[in-house]
Amino acid sequence: MKLEIKMNSHQYDVVIEKNSLNEVNKYFDLSRKVLILTDSGIPSEYVKKIVDVTKEPIVHVIEQGEASKSFNNFEKILDVMIENRFSRSDCVVACGGGVVGDLAGFVASVYMRGIDFYNVPTTLLSQVDSSIGGKTAIDKLGYKNVVGAFYPPKKVLIDSNVLKTLDQRNLHAGLVEALKMGLTCDKTLVDLIKESNSLLEDIDEIIIKALQVKKYVVETDPYEQNIRKVLNFGHTVGHAVEAHQNYNLLHGECVGIGMLYFVNDDLKQEITTILNKYNLPTTTDISSDELYNYITLDKKRTNDDISIVLVNKIGTYEIKKIKLTDIKQYL
Ligand SMILES: NC(=O)c1ccc[n+]([C@@H]2O[C@H](COP(=O)([O-])OP(=O)(O)OC[C@H]3O[C@@H](n4cnc5c(N)ncnc54)[C@H](O)[C@@H]3O)[C@@H](O)[C@H]2O)c1
Repeated sequence: MKLEIKMNSHQYDVVIEKNSLNEVNKYFDLSRKVLILTDSGIPSEYVKKIVDVTKEPIVHVIEQGEASKSFNNFEKILDVMIENRFSRSDCVVACGGGVVGDLAGFVASVYMRGIDFYNVPTTLLSQVDSSIGGKTAIDKLGYKNVVGAFYPPKKVLIDSNVLKTLDQRNLHAGLVEALKMGLTCDKTLVDLIKESNSLLEDIDEIIIKALQVKKYVVETDPYEQNIRKVLNFGHTVGHAVEAHQNYNLLHGECVGIGMLYFVNDDLKQEITTILNKYNLPTTTDISSDELYNYITLDKKRTNDDISIVLVNKIGTYEIKKIKLTDIKQYL
C-alpha cells in the first residue's frame, strides 16, 4: 500500500508494507553516503537491515528519550556529517520513533541548506502521526519543539513488524493519536480500535486509516493555518498534563486524558471505555487552576486567544477560537 502526500510543491510516498524493511534499498536510494540516526532503545537488527544494503553507512546512536531532541545532539550530528565529508547529494535516514525522526529531519533540513531525508518510523506514534506532515524540531530551554522547520521527507517506510518489539505502554500511547484522527474525522477508525481483538493483527488497517486522515489534513493545510489545528485535539490539556507530570506520563497517555475535556458527556463515557480497554489513564488529579497556568504557557496561544478543538459527534469536529480566560469553563 502506498499513500502519496502532496504538500505545496513537494510530493512524497509513504509505503505501508509488512516486511518492507527487509528490502529497504528497493524504496530508498542508499547507493551513497548515508547518516543513519537511531537511538539506544531501538533493536539493532532494524538498523542492521539498513546498514547491510547501504554503500557508505555512518550510524549515529543517541540516548533513548525526549532529552535527546537537543541542540547538543543536533550540533554533534552536524559535526559527524562535516567530518565525514557529507555532500549535498548524500542523505539522512531516521530509524526510530518521533524523537529520532524529529531530530534527523531537522538535521537534514539545514545540512547544506537541505539534503534528502528518509524516515523509517518504529513506534506506533511515529507511524500514524509524526513521520508525515513535514514537522521537524528539537527542544530548547525546556520548551518542546520550539526550534525546527517544515521539511518533508523524501520517502517514509512503515513496516508494522517492528512494533512487535515495542513495549505495550508505548504501543497503546501511540494508539491514542490514531484514536484522535478517528474521533475527529473517521468513525470507522474508532470502531476498529474499539472492537479490535488483536491490535497487532489490525494494526496495518489502523495505520492506513489514520494516515488517510493525516494526509487529507496536511495536504489541505500544510502550515497549520486552519484545519491542521484539528490534530491538536486533546493536546491543549494533554501538553499541560505532560509538563505538570514532568514528562513521566507518555505523550499519548496525556492526550487521551486531554481529549476528555473537550467532548460531551456521552462521548466522554465512550472514549473512557476505549481508553480503559488499552489500560490508558483517563483522569488526572491536577486542579483546574494548575492546568490553566500550564495552558497559558502553550505556544499555540496567540495573544490572548487560544484555539480549541471540540468533538461532540464521532467523526466531526469544531475548531473554536476563544479568549484564553474562557478556557477555564472547560477545565
Ligand atoms: N513531527 C511531528 O509531527 C510530531 C507529531 C507527534 C509527536 N512528535 C514527537 O514525537 C516524539 C515522541 O515519539 P515516540 O512516541 O515515537 O517516542 P520515542 O521516539 O521516544 O520512542 C519511544 C521509545 O520506544 C523505543 N523504541 C522505538 N521503536 C522501538 C521498537 N520498534 N521496538 C522497541 N523499542 C522501540 C525508543 O528507544 C524509545 O525509548 C516527541 O518528541 C514528540 O514531540 C512529533
